[in-house]
Amino acid sequence: MTDTPPFTESDSAALRQRLFWALGGLLGVVVLGLLVFVLSLRTELDQAAERGASDLELASDRLTTGLQRYRELAVFLSDHPTVLAVALEAEPDVQATAATSDLLQSMADKTGAHSLLLVAGDGRVLASAGEAGLPTGAQLALSRAMDGALGVAHFVDLEGRRRYVFAAPVFEPNGPAQAAVVVNVDIGLLEWGWPTEASAIYFTDSYGVVFISNRSELVLRGGSSGQMPVTARHRVMGHEIWRHEAGPYIPSPALHVIQTLPVIGLEGELLRDLRPVLSAAALQAGMASALGLVFAAFVFFATERRRTLAEANARLEARVAARTEALELANRDLQHEVRERQEAEARLKRAQADLVQAGKLSALGEMSAGISHELNQPLMAIRSFAENAQAFLERGQPEKAADNLGRISELARRMGRIIKNLRAFARQEPETITDVELTAVVEAALEMTQAKMTNAGVTLVWSPAGQVWVRGGEVRLQQVVMNLLSNAVDAVKDAPEKRIEITLLLASAPDMPTRFTISDTGPGISEPEKIFDPFYTTKEVGASEGMGLGLSISYGLVQSFGGRIRGENRAEGGAQFTIELQPAANKEGANAAN
Ligand SMILES: Nc1ncnc2c1ncn2[C@@H]1O[C@H](COP(=O)(O)OP(=O)(O)OP(=O)(O)O)[C@@H](O)[C@H]1O
Ligand SMILES: [Mg+2]
Repeated sequence: MTDTPPFTESDSAALRQRLFWALGGLLGVVVLGLLVFVLSLRTELDQAAERGASDLELASDRLTTGLQRYRELAVFLSDHPTVLAVALEAEPDVQATAATSDLLQSMADKTGAHSLLLVAGDGRVLASAGEAGLPTGAQLALSRAMDGALGVAHFVDLEGRRRYVFAAPVFEPNGPAQAAVVVNVDIGLLEWGWPTEASAIYFTDSYGVVFISNRSELVLRGGSSGQMPVTARHRVMGHEIWRHEAGPYIPSPALHVIQTLPVIGLEGELLRDLRPVLSAAALQAGMASALGLVFAAFVFFATERRRTLAEANARLEARVAARTEALELANRDLQHEVRERQEAEARLKRAQADLVQAGKLSALGEMSAGISHELNQPLMAIRSFAENAQAFLERGQPEKAADNLGRISELARRMGRIIKNLRAFARQEPETITDVELTAVVEAALEMTQAKMTNAGVTLVWSPAGQVWVRGGEVRLQQVVMNLLSNAVDAVKDAPEKRIEITLLLASAPDMPTRFTISDTGPGISEPEKIFDPFYTTKEVGASEGMGLGLSISYGLVQSFGGRIRGENRAEGGAQFTIELQPAANKEGANAAN
């Protein structure tokens, strides 16, 4: 089961930060695209301008060379003897005129000139080829020629043909110009020979009118007669950019290049298509942007990945820290509990020790009547023996008196033994476990309960089998035996048969316990499972009868020796208590020997 964590303040901050970086990246990509666009536009524009300039130069050269031919033709003819023969004669003969006309015709045929005229200063045509009269537009060139210079003119004739005219003066020998050779060029024919070009090239005159062009739409536009259809002119990075509506074959937007041609009195202009330039720049910008985008995306996702890892790590660390804290807390609790347990154990031990002592004192109290009787009886006997001894001495029977004295000393020894036992029993024994001789312990316990048993009229069955060494504490073991004997006496007190039997079964092997039993002919145990509970008693509480502590103390003591105690009812009636004790290791030989 996974539970989604709640959306926290830091989550929204992280989201904002991510959005910020994503937008920043996009902005960077856009800026990069723009930058690349501008740079490549500049390069492309420069290159286009260069190529445009060279294209224009080529076209201008072509035009100038084309016209130069006719100019030279005019100059050549102005010196020709055949021409001179007509030009310098006031009355030229018909033959000479015909010869000149033939020359002019042949030259016109060879050079492709529209017409060739020999014109006198007053405008009379002396000889001609191509056309008969001098067109009006050529008048200016003629008057220039008559002034002695090479006349040049361009115009549109009555039929709408564009004409370019050279007029070369024909000089008298060492005199002024008498006539002029006029060469007429049809510009339309000249244009036909031009190769088709992507760029629009045109040549304008001093009035701004397009006179020659490789695009017919532009011809004769501009000037005052009809404006060039330019809608916008911009200067971009040092280049002039034009937009216009001159028709589908004139590129727009276009790069405008200009070149002055003083030789022919025209200005060459070129309009180069900008769309390839723009698309090249856009392509480069697009490619740069795409690369930038890929890079930005890579960086973004790499950062995202790192951030995700860092977050997961932080979460893990927080969890580990929380777990560690919980563990530390649990550990502290546990230590606290252990300490409490140790203290409780210590308290319990102290309480147990107190209980043992209390149990002993209670047993002593219970036995005190019997013991005082036990001590009183020999004391009385000693008194009567002493009185008897005194009487025997008075009667002069010292042997009998000595016999009585011997009995007195015997009785005193017996009393001393009882008192010694009592003192030993009352002493608080250290809690150490030593090797103890069990038979002696049983003997001492019997001696102390002797009075109680005699009072109750109990028959004791007990045949000591020499020394039996076990692990335990002498006084505590004696207390256990006394408790069991005391209970047994209590049990048989009102029974028809009052018999208590003590048996001792030696350990048959080193790891087997020594078994010691006390059985009686009483009514048996009424609730065997409860007898070792503290304060469980069936006897009258409070009176000297019972507190319910004897067996529970005995249980604790036997346990502390590493032994076991149990109580059960015998099949033939009565109760039987069994104590198992560990044999004393180094006394095994002694045990076996006896
Ligand atoms: N030999 C026995 N026969 C029958 N019942 C017994 C025998 N020994 C003990 N009991 C039962 O076990 C109970 C508990 O014995 P325990 O020695 O612990 O206490 P108590 O003898 O009643 O009092 P005290 O503290 O003076 O010993 C007795 O009251 C008795 O009911
Ligand atoms: Mg008892």
